[in-house]
Amino acid sequence: MIDRTVLRALHAEEEQRFIAAHPRSAVLAKEAQANLLCGVPMAWMTRWPGSFPVFFDTAQGAHFTDVDGLGYIDFCLGDTGAMTGHGLVQVAEALYAQAKRGITTMLPSVDAAWVGAELARRFGLPLWQMAMTATDANRFVLRFARHITGRPKVLVFDWCYHGTVDEALATLDAGGNTVNRPGNLGAPFDTGSTTVVVPFNDLAALEAALATGEIACVLAEPALTNIGIVMPDEGFHAELRRLTRAYGTLLVIDETHTICVGPGGATAQWGLEPDFFVIGKTIGGGMPAAAYGMTAEIAEQLAPTIDKSAVDVSGVGGTLTGNALAVAAVRATLSSALRDEDFAHMIPLATAWTAGVRDTIDRHGLPWHVQQLGGRAEYWFCPPPRDGAAAAAAVDDELDAFMHLWALNRGILLTPFHNMALMSPHHTSADVEAHTEVFAAAVQALLG
Ligand SMILES: Cc1ncc(COP(=O)(O)O)c(C=O)c1O
Repeated sequence: MIDRTVLRALHAEEEQRFIAAHPRSAVLAKEAQANLLCGVPMAWMTRWPGSFPVFFDTAQGAHFTDVDGLGYIDFCLGDTGAMTGHGLVQVAEALYAQAKRGITTMLPSVDAAWVGAELARRFGLPLWQMAMTATDANRFVLRFARHITGRPKVLVFDWCYHGTVDEALATLDAGGNTVNRPGNLGAPFDTGSTTVVVPFNDLAALEAALATGEIACVLAEPALTNIGIVMPDEGFHAELRRLTRAYGTLLVIDETHTICVGPGGATAQWGLEPDFFVIGKTIGGGMPAAAYGMTAEIAEQLAPTIDKSAVDVSGVGGTLTGNALAVAAVRATLSSALRDEDFAHMIPLATAWTAGVRDTIDRHGLPWHVQQLGGRAEYWFCPPPRDGAAAAAAVDDELDAFMHLWALNRGILLTPFHNMALMSPHHTSADVEAHTEVFAAAVQALLG
């Protein structure tokens, strides 16, 4: 339905508009080209719309201002890293107070026990360890799972994303074989040797893989959130748990994104029963911090390993992991944000955002859909898919780039590599309405 000539002409206009509006970002981007690879401190930052990245100046609550003095509604929120909203006073104060008293000693700090107890209370697993990032946490858990079960492989769902975890950068090829996913750069091994990929919501494929007896753990998000949002079928999680138990496979639930459904994530909300639980990004209020929890049974099996003298070269942990600053940030975040009252504000806003987008989709009879998951929502250019491959088939880079740039030029930041909006407790109905109007206008311009 989209005329590509119209799309390209509109995109070119938006590009000019972007360049004209961001002279200061343009200068900084040029300077950064000299000594930063691709002109950015981290290569993903090249994925923003526009011919160069917008350099931000200040971010507060649900908004930020760029170096050209332009204001934005931030629906990206650091791709969940700042789901609490930017610049939380409680976190800033805790960081300042802790930084003055020392950051890294490799000793536990006074906040450690509080954080462990709060993680246990929220997420229902009794024993916890810290990590710097969700990637780290997933890596550590995969090692533990192989160690405990003595099995060589992990199972992930097709088109999942669990961070820069080598084993999980895998996908299915047309013949149903597990292969390195596109973009898996300098892969250290063929993921077919470490990983089995099955389509999300495909219980028969799942059972066939588990029945080989090779699978140490299933690493899963409650819903796929990194290829649009793909919801689990009714009863999928109950079967996933039943089958993993039946075949002696551990279940790792990664709630790094799905914490958007409530204070205890989907695990609490949907009654999941993981053996390991992974959470990263938002629990530090923007500071790098992550954690992983485990059942008492798992902890009992791991304790003798952890106590051994070689634990420092076990492949788990890191010198700065669990540092006092990160633990203080987690305490400040979990005591002042991500609470019931925060979700009570965020979720209705996500419902309104979804309704606004759906209204435009329906009005024009577009074959697109919009999916809400708690405080997050995302539109995708196909009807609701049941698995990642169906969602991946509908990726439209050209259309994505246009929609993002159109929104950015009108003061709205969407998450790159997604068409996703995440709500914070600081967003307002006016922010949501602004998006509804901008989205409707983009579609109107496209359809002429
Ligand atoms: C579900 C999930 N797990 C883990 C990660 C990795 O998080 P990080 O990049 O902070 O390590 C991501 C990142 O997007 C994610 O979406």
